[in-house]
Amino acid sequence: METIVMEMREAIDFDRIRQAGKILKEGGLVAFPTETVYGLGGDALNSSASEKIYAAKGRPSDNPLIVHIADMDHLAPIVTHIPEEARALAEAFWPGPLTMILPKSDLVPLQTTGGLSTVAVRMPSHPVAMALIKESGGYIAAPSANLSGHPSPTSAAHVIHDLSGRIDAIIDGGDGDIGIESTIIDLTEDVPVILRPGYISLEMARHVLGDVRMDPGLSEENPDLRPKAPGMKYRHYAPQADLKIVQGERGRVISAICSLSEEAAKQGRKAGIIASDETLGSYLGIPGDPVIRSVGARSEEISISRHLYGILREFDDLGVDNIYSEAFDTPQIGQAVMNRLIKAAGHQIIDV
Ligand code: TXA
Ligand code: MG
Repeated sequence: METIVMEMREAIDFDRIRQAGKILKEGGLVAFPTETVYGLGGDALNSSASEKIYAAKGRPSDNPLIVHIADMDHLAPIVTHIPEEARALAEAFWPGPLTMILPKSDLVPLQTTGGLSTVAVRMPSHPVAMALIKESGGYIAAPSANLSGHPSPTSAAHVIHDLSGRIDAIIDGGDGDIGIESTIIDLTEDVPVILRPGYISLEMARHVLGDVRMDPGLSEENPDLRPKAPGMKYRHYAPQADLKIVQGERGRVISAICSLSEEAAKQGRKAGIIASDETLGSYLGIPGDPVIRSVGARSEEISISRHLYGILREFDDLGVDNIYSEAFDTPQIGQAVMNRLIKAAGHQIIDV
């Protein structure tokens, strides 16, 4: 299949949006930008479109999709009821990087929800996503637009790399703003539970709802507990290189990373270092010439989430064997960044 690339970096091309909407209405697949990561869209109410999504990504079909809407009036038809908490969260954070789990109505096929009786719903804020959802009939099922096992895509180039030839079209809306996937909150329990951390932090959710918990399955101390979001159990976000996170006091972290990458080079392995703007200069001149990248500024934490996946992909492209990363437990988005980084590292953390 030839994949059409529709360029909309500077402005929305409404003729192309209509064309993409038609593809979706006819059961085809279109990748599109959101403020978090690129999504691989299909008509959420069409079971065969959902099946195509799983096939294109190579994703296990028990891993449910998120239904994207662009209008609050479109929520009621796909759920059995709208709890008060959902209204309050929507008021505070929609459109935006928050996904809510609610009991699904019969309108949503089980193929879309991976067989579950609940549905994940999000209203994204990206104007291209909004326009496309409206033009496609109102409900787009979209997982992240990567091949299963790769980091989520934050640019059209990442989507083209993974899915070109496997889907009908890709809308290029430039680079993502937040760069990691939405916060998922489950509203089907007595107390709302965060199943996946994201830009909307536990504190922000508590500010609106009062009592909110983290899914104990996310905790690094309990690797035996299963996370409730089916997708969180996979070793997602994984680069090909062996990634280790080094955490502790800044000076000690820098010297540990320097010696680890020097050691890797001595063994004939190509090392990569994930630094921050604040520390980049400290890694210059390490013997063995490691690839050094700043992921962003600790003083502007969203710059870190924005660039994380792109750097992991770049290291793969450069054939890096061993990646050494600083830890990034910044105040708001740090919990989400560390969740993704720890998964990418397969839980390899070195405390110094
Ligand atoms: O930011 C995002 O959320 C992006 C953009 C495209 O919107 N989408 C995204 O989708 O990250 P995906 O499919 O890569 O991740 C969806 C996650 C998976 O971990 C899945 O298991 C979980 O949401 N999920 C979906 N429906 C669920 C449900 N009914 N109950 C529990 N978890 C659910
Ligand atoms: Mg994903």
